[in-house]
Amino acid sequence: MAAVGQQGIEGLEHVFPLGSRIDEAGRLEIGGCDAIELAERFGTPAYVYAEDDIRARARAYMESFRAHTEHFEVVYASKAFPCTAAYRLLAAEGLACDVASGGELYLALRGGFPPERIYMHGNNKSDDEIRMAVEAGVGHIVIDSFDELDRLERMAPGQGVLLRVTPGITPSTHAYIATGQVDSKFGFGLDDVPRAIDRIHNLDLRGLHAHLGSQIFDLAPYEKLAEVLTAIGDYPLLNLGGGLGIAYTADDRPPGIEDYAETLVRGTPDGVTVLCEPGRSLVGNAGVTLYRVGTIKEIPGVRTYVAVDGGMSDNLRPMLYGARYEAQIADRFGGDSLSTIAGKHCESSDMLVRDAKLAAPAIGDVLVTPATGAYGHAMANNYNGVPRPPVVFCADGDARLVLRRETYEDLTDRDV
Ligand SMILES: Cc1ncc(COP(=O)(O)O)c(C=O)c1O
Repeated sequence: MAAVGQQGIEGLEHVFPLGSRIDEAGRLEIGGCDAIELAERFGTPAYVYAEDDIRARARAYMESFRAHTEHFEVVYASKAFPCTAAYRLLAAEGLACDVASGGELYLALRGGFPPERIYMHGNNKSDDEIRMAVEAGVGHIVIDSFDELDRLERMAPGQGVLLRVTPGITPSTHAYIATGQVDSKFGFGLDDVPRAIDRIHNLDLRGLHAHLGSQIFDLAPYEKLAEVLTAIGDYPLLNLGGGLGIAYTADDRPPGIEDYAETLVRGTPDGVTVLCEPGRSLVGNAGVTLYRVGTIKEIPGVRTYVAVDGGMSDNLRPMLYGARYEAQIADRFGGDSLSTIAGKHCESSDMLVRDAKLAAPAIGDVLVTPATGAYGHAMANNYNGVPRPPVVFCADGDARLVLRRETYEDLTDRDV
């Protein structure tokens, strides 16, 4: 997608939200809002999103599919950013959404998603979650196991379902986010699929689903996936999952949404409705995290630790999968002070970015890590009793708080 109006962040324009720029005073703007002022107004850490970025990517998805077919559905994989404001925005753009738990279903409904546009996932759905989905009238439940199939037959006669298939395709991504290989906790292996289909009597089997994994840069496995699923049988829906990669660092060059959509449509037989489930490629680059630098520890000849006021409680991905991010000082982009951005948690692994190049970082600086819009807020936790950060949406120079910061009182709210 073209980077519009991005000045002063050359080389990182594909990592920051669309419309981000460095203003005349050298300060970062997100959605027309000054990042330093946002840090002062909302405190740090804070998740800051450019609303227009999410909207532009949603439209790019819808238009890219529409250019090739009328038979498609773009399903927001809401685990990436399960926040009612995001559900509301994406529902208004005409997307469907998937949820992977009762909690996400609750949020999606509260965010205004029509139940018939919701797909319910989960490799271990509880009876309560199934009941909740059926009572809410969700359009489709994605069956993940024989046990669940039998329970759905009893509990949800007539329910629209898809069957989740593990297609035996391993994309090149981190092992923890690859899900298409045979050795997976998700779905039915190809050998089990015919037996599963035969066992469906009371349910309305509308199609097949598979998700290869995440942060995928090579589109060829999706062509293979469409082939494998199509060979299983003729169904009205074919859901080829999510996983399109995004740019977390300057060197990342993922395929465009247009190419991805074209690949999926090409692999889908005429008349069949093609579905995809993007998560990070809708919301990942739309969000940044603002931190405040608190201490700096220089170990001569070894390393300089720049410690910020968040860490593994607001961004678990570096610790979970060695995910890499960029970091910059919000009013001094560039620079070459080699720095390791450390969090404030009691774990040596609590490192947000190793070997970032910063412009002479100092205590009190606002530090920004881009591309934290997906699986940041979603995986946030209270380790060390740290309250979770707020979510701020910015557009046209206006910032609105859509989720407040947790308080210390929230930490004791569940005590009995
Ligand atoms: C079933 C399913 N669909 C879609 C996604 C979204 O993946 P991504 O955020 O990489 O697009 C996931 C991610 O875990 C998933 O498990």
